[in-house]
Amino acid sequence: MITAFLPLLLLASSTKLGNFTDLNYLLDFKSQMTDPLRILDSNWTTDTSYCTWIGVSCSRRHPQRVSSLNLYNFSLQGTIHPSIGNLSFLSFLDLSANSLFGIIPESLAQLTRLKFLALEQNSLMGSIPIGIFNVSSLVTVSFLSNSLSGSLPYNQSFMLPRLKFFSVSANLLTGKTPVSFARCQNLQTLSLSNNSFTGIIPTELGQLSKLTGLSLSGNQLIGKIPISLGNLTELLTLDLNFNKLEGNIPGELAGLLNLQFLNLARNKLTGSIPLALLNVSSLSILSLSANNLTGSVPASIGYSLPLLKTLFLGQNQLSGGLPFINSLSNCKSLVSVSLVNNELDGVLPDSVGNLSATLQNFNLADNHIRGNIPAAFGNLSSLLLLSLARNELNGEIPIGLMRSKTLQVLHLVDNKINGSIPSELGLLTSLNTLNLQQNALSGPIPSTLANMRGLQSLLLSGNMLSSRIPKSLGNLRGLIALDLSRNLLDGLIPAEFGNLGALNAMDLSKNQLTGTIPSNLGGMEMVSSLDLSSNSLDGQIPQSLGKLLNIEYMNLSYNFLSGVIPKTFGTPRYLSVLDLSFNKLEGQIPQGRVFSNSSTAILRGNEALCGKSELNFPPCAKAGTTGTGKKHFLKYIIPAVAAALILLAFFFLILRRYLMGQAKIPPQGNTLFANNYRMISYHELVRATNNFSNANLLGTGSFGSVFKASLDDGLVTAVKVLSLDVEGASKSFDVECSALSMLRHRNLVKIISTCSNLDFKALILQFMSNGSLEQWLHSHYHKLSVLQRVNIMVDVSMALEYLHHHHHYVVVHSDIKPSNVLLDENMTAYVSDFGIAKLLISGGKSIVSASTSGTIGYIAPGKEIV
Ligand SMILES: *[C@@H]1O[C@H](CO)[C@@H](O)[C@H](O)[C@H]1NC(C)=O
Ligand SMILES: *[C@@H]1O[C@H](CO)[C@@H](O)[C@H](O)[C@H]1NC(C)=O
Ligand SMILES: *[C@@H]1O[C@H](CO)[C@@H](O)[C@H](O)[C@H]1NC(C)=O
Ligand SMILES: *[C@@H]1O[C@H](CO)[C@@H](O)[C@H](O)[C@H]1NC(C)=O
Ligand SMILES: *[C@@H]1O[C@H](CO)[C@@H](O)[C@H](O)[C@H]1NC(C)=O
Ligand SMILES: *[C@@H]1O[C@H](CO)[C@@H](O)[C@H](O)[C@H]1NC(C)=O
Ligand SMILES: *[C@@H]1O[C@H](CO)[C@@H](O)[C@H](O)[C@H]1NC(C)=O
Ligand SMILES: *[C@@H]1O[C@H](CO)[C@@H](O)[C@H](O)[C@H]1NC(C)=O
Ligand SMILES: *[C@@H]1O[C@H](CO)[C@@H](O)[C@H](O)[C@H]1NC(C)=O
Ligand SMILES: *[C@@H]1O[C@H](CO)[C@@H](O)[C@H](O)[C@H]1NC(C)=O
Ligand SMILES: *[C@@H]1O[C@H](CO)[C@@H](O)[C@H](O)[C@H]1NC(C)=O
Repeated sequence: MITAFLPLLLLASSTKLGNFTDLNYLLDFKSQMTDPLRILDSNWTTDTSYCTWIGVSCSRRHPQRVSSLNLYNFSLQGTIHPSIGNLSFLSFLDLSANSLFGIIPESLAQLTRLKFLALEQNSLMGSIPIGIFNVSSLVTVSFLSNSLSGSLPYNQSFMLPRLKFFSVSANLLTGKTPVSFARCQNLQTLSLSNNSFTGIIPTELGQLSKLTGLSLSGNQLIGKIPISLGNLTELLTLDLNFNKLEGNIPGELAGLLNLQFLNLARNKLTGSIPLALLNVSSLSILSLSANNLTGSVPASIGYSLPLLKTLFLGQNQLSGGLPFINSLSNCKSLVSVSLVNNELDGVLPDSVGNLSATLQNFNLADNHIRGNIPAAFGNLSSLLLLSLARNELNGEIPIGLMRSKTLQVLHLVDNKINGSIPSELGLLTSLNTLNLQQNALSGPIPSTLANMRGLQSLLLSGNMLSSRIPKSLGNLRGLIALDLSRNLLDGLIPAEFGNLGALNAMDLSKNQLTGTIPSNLGGMEMVSSLDLSSNSLDGQIPQSLGKLLNIEYMNLSYNFLSGVIPKTFGTPRYLSVLDLSFNKLEGQIPQGRVFSNSSTAILRGNEALCGKSELNFPPCAKAGTTGTGKKHFLKYIIPAVAAALILLAFFFLILRRYLMGQAKIPPQGNTLFANNYRMISYHELVRATNNFSNANLLGTGSFGSVFKASLDDGLVTAVKVLSLDVEGASKSFDVECSALSMLRHRNLVKIISTCSNLDFKALILQFMSNGSLEQWLHSHYHKLSVLQRVNIMVDVSMALEYLHHHHHYVVVHSDIKPSNVLLDENMTAYVSDFGIAKLLISGGKSIVSASTSGTIGYIAPGKEIV
């Protein structure tokens, strides 16, 4: 601005003497502009003639007078100076595509030589100066795309006899559509679209015999389409789209013999498509969509309108069959056909394969079309979109369709399509949307779908798809939406889904998925909606899910998830619904925004959660503190009752076993090792244990190692070899020998033999194929049922009862622990390892005792027994 003022001031002083010239008016104009590209600043300098300035031309007959000012797309910002009206020789003014604001100066009406006036694509406001409509020299006027308001002179005498082009599209103009234009007999283009003009379309416009383009779209026009428009024989474009026009489409439009573009969409037109319209054989684009048209689509439409490129008849109440499709094969340039949302029925003819190879979009969604999908669609070598959604199609997806290699969108949602998804679908490598939802598809999801590298939406919900989800889908890196919900899918969630870095929404709900939620899913960085509900998922919720930064909705309800809710769930900023209801979650509910109320964190059906009174969960205090009400009833009373019931069953079993055991306990003889004692040599043990090899080692203890041994006669045994260098080992051997030699019970490990000399001592014991109870309790691979656990408890207590009460010695085992309880092939429990046992005479005096200390933490309460 400052740089603009300086020459102006200089100039103002220097020209005081002389005449005002166009130089002053140009500098006035520049003075109100900022010029971020510095085009005018560097070029409009006073040391050169303004007639050489960029954008400026002077009259040939009057060399010092500016005849043209063309500053199109100079990025100028500012208001238009009224002095522009003093450039009285101006015939061409184009200030379009700048950032001009403020009003259009009234002074423009002084430009009596002006032919071309364009102020398009600025931010000009206020009303259009009325004087402009008396500038009789004007040929072209465009104020397209500004913020002009007010109305146009409705029925005043325009003096625009030469006007050919007039556009005020995309402004904020109101009032009635001017009748006055009817007097502009040379008018070729009249565009008043995208304003708020009201009233009817003036019949008088039918007098504009030279009109080639009439656009009144996007206004509030009411009434009928005037039949006079049928007189506009030169018309190429008629756009009345998006008004409130009603009544029939006049058959008089048949007079528009040159019409190429007819858009009457989004009105309230009724009646049928007039056959007369078929006389307009020049039509290339025909849109009658979103009206209230009835009747059928003229069967000969394609034969009559051979130049059709676009046929939009969607969102009406058109009915009848599809014979017109045959005729469309006559349209060699056809690109788009949409009859979406009508009442059409019938069966798709094979002649769809004869439609033009130029066809890109074919949309017959939301009708009542029956029968199969013709494989002939595969003939259409340019097809981009095929939508037959929400019809009554049945049969299978034709493999022939896969010849349309260009296909990008395939919408077959909500039909009755059956059979399996053909693996050939993977041949459609251009596909970005595959929507087969709500059909009757069965069988597996083909892994070949992963070949559709550009796929963004894969929507297969609401079918009967079964089997596992192919891991290969994790290769679809561009996937944005994945919906496999409401099927019969089983198996695991592929950990590969963690690679779907662009995924925005994933829904796998209502299937039969099992296993844990892969922690890799934390790799889905863009995911905002994740639904894994109503499956059979178990294990813990991975922490990584709480690290999904964009997550807004997460539903893991109705699974078997256990453990605590990861603390990470308190952090995601946009998480507004977290539904973890009906799982087996427990422990402290984490802190965080989402857990602040019960409408954002849905946690019911997880009775072991605690620590949020806002969510109606009790504090995480220890059991036995204050407790009334239903929650406490559920939490404390039910387990207590359950425990009592188990104990009752336990005692019942003991009682039964006891009674049976009483009868069966063999008479206790003094014979060492009873009847099946057999001699075993050291050499036989060496052979049996493969020279005490590590492969045969079952375990090691404080006094030695236990090996699996196959004796010469084939008997499999466990051989406990004492380490005689360990202090007390020898004594332990003696204790165990004496104990086992005296004791015989179903639930005590039987001794088969011993092998003893000065420097080698071994006990040969019954082999227990199911190992120790400890292995079972701490293993991931084995699980003990409740019944098995009760049986083991009964077995162990029977053994102890025998040791303590059914012998003339009291035997104190001293080291009862899970690793000393062994299980045979029938899961019967046996107490073993009497290495530190104490034998007490009933009076209480110890007769044999190897050691005072058992395993730390497991030392049995021997003193109490004493
Ligand atoms: C201004 O621009 C015009 C047209 O581009 C050019 O002919 C003229 O030389 C330029 N003048 C100056 C001073 O840069
Ligand atoms: C305006 O000019 C810029 C370069 O300055 C160009 O990129 C753009 O396409 C032009 N816009 C129009 C509408 O001509
Ligand atoms: C410029 O035009 C205005 C009218 O818009 C007029 O009042 C003024 O005198 C003119 N200036 C010159 C210097 O001619
Ligand atoms: C145009 O000029 C005529 C007289 O020349 C006048 O009657 C009419 O009102 C003017 N129209 C406008 C819109 O100024
Ligand atoms: C417009 O004005 C003329 C006279 O100036 C009149 O004859 C005509 O009926 C008017 N038209 C409308 C639609 O008001
Ligand atoms: C009118 O508005 C519609 C919808 O907003 C738009 O598609 C169209 O390009 C606009 N037309 C003009 C001329 O601005
Ligand atoms: C169409 O033009 C003819 C003759 O040019 C004329 O008789 C007829 O009235 C016009 N129709 C309408 C509706 O204006
Ligand atoms: C359509 O054209 C046929 C002949 O080409 C003609 O007989 C018929 O009258 C025309 N229909 C209309 C409504 O102009
Ligand atoms: C369309 O027309 C039917 C009768 O033909 C009428 O019931 C229905 O309300 C109309 N719908 C609209 C949106 O005008
Ligand atoms: C396709 O067009 C050819 C030639 O016009 C014709 O012979 C054939 O019957 C058509 N096919 C169908 C299915 O209509
Ligand atoms: C496929 O197109 C060819 C011509 O390109 C045509 O001859 C054939 O009939 C079409 N097939 C079907 C099933 O329409």
